[in-house]
Amino acid sequence: MSADATAPCIGIIGGTGIHQIEGLELLREHAGENSYGAPSRPLQEGVLNGQRVFFLQRHGSPRAIPPHLINYRANIEAMRALGVTHLIGINAVGGISADMQPGRLVVPDQLVDYTWGREHTFDDGSNGTLQHIDFTQPYDQALRLAIIDSAEAAGIPHEPCGVHAVTQGPRLETAAEVRRFAGDGCDVVGMTGMPEAALARECGIAYATICMVVNAAAGLGDLPLTQDTMRDILQREAAVVRRLLGRLLPQLASAGLE
Ligand code: HPA
Repeated sequence: MSADATAPCIGIIGGTGIHQIEGLELLREHAGENSYGAPSRPLQEGVLNGQRVFFLQRHGSPRAIPPHLINYRANIEAMRALGVTHLIGINAVGGISADMQPGRLVVPDQLVDYTWGREHTFDDGSNGTLQHIDFTQPYDQALRLAIIDSAEAAGIPHEPCGVHAVTQGPRLETAAEVRRFAGDGCDVVGMTGMPEAALARECGIAYATICMVVNAAAGLGDLPLTQDTMRDILQREAAVVRRLLGRLLPQLASAGLE
């Protein structure tokens, strides 16, 4: 484990299909309760390939909390309070554009937020000043590049860019909604990318996501959109993500990220 106090402190928020990190040597669990409430489940602190990491299952475990009811603020605040400086979100998504076929990993560089009614900011105005974060680039570029480098080094096929549409869920989309997202320039669609990214930015945590395309988005594929048709591909992609993390974490520890 790195003894360097300036080394990045890494957190991972796993989504559907990522309930634990294989090979994580568990050190302890943190309840993580904070002024925004309880995180989705206690955060696991462990060591993976010599790198300390904090892991949280976004949907709780066993999987239970739907995307619109996740307490994103409590999750991010719990990570912040533990000293996390670099946070990797993992999301299952549907593929919209031609390159985003099921089985593909994507490291998005942009997003469009279609969610509504979620607690999407820490700013309740009590500060006396208004907070308008710069969200031009919603993901941390250095962290994105580290993910892409690790995928390349591990020989894992991936898309190094993409626009992530974040919908409210929990239902999947209509075909017309997907056509609209495509017209808006979106490449993949998921339900949990926001407000996680914006909350991390408000806290000054460097944040990026790895998206696993588990189905063709509504109206674009031949298969029915059921949990069963997504399950196999999700399991295969989750194994690839775990391999990617095994490569990425030690690299982050030694990379001297800003
Ligand atoms: N749409 C929204 N969220 C998703 C999808 C989808 O097609 N697949 C996995 N998560």
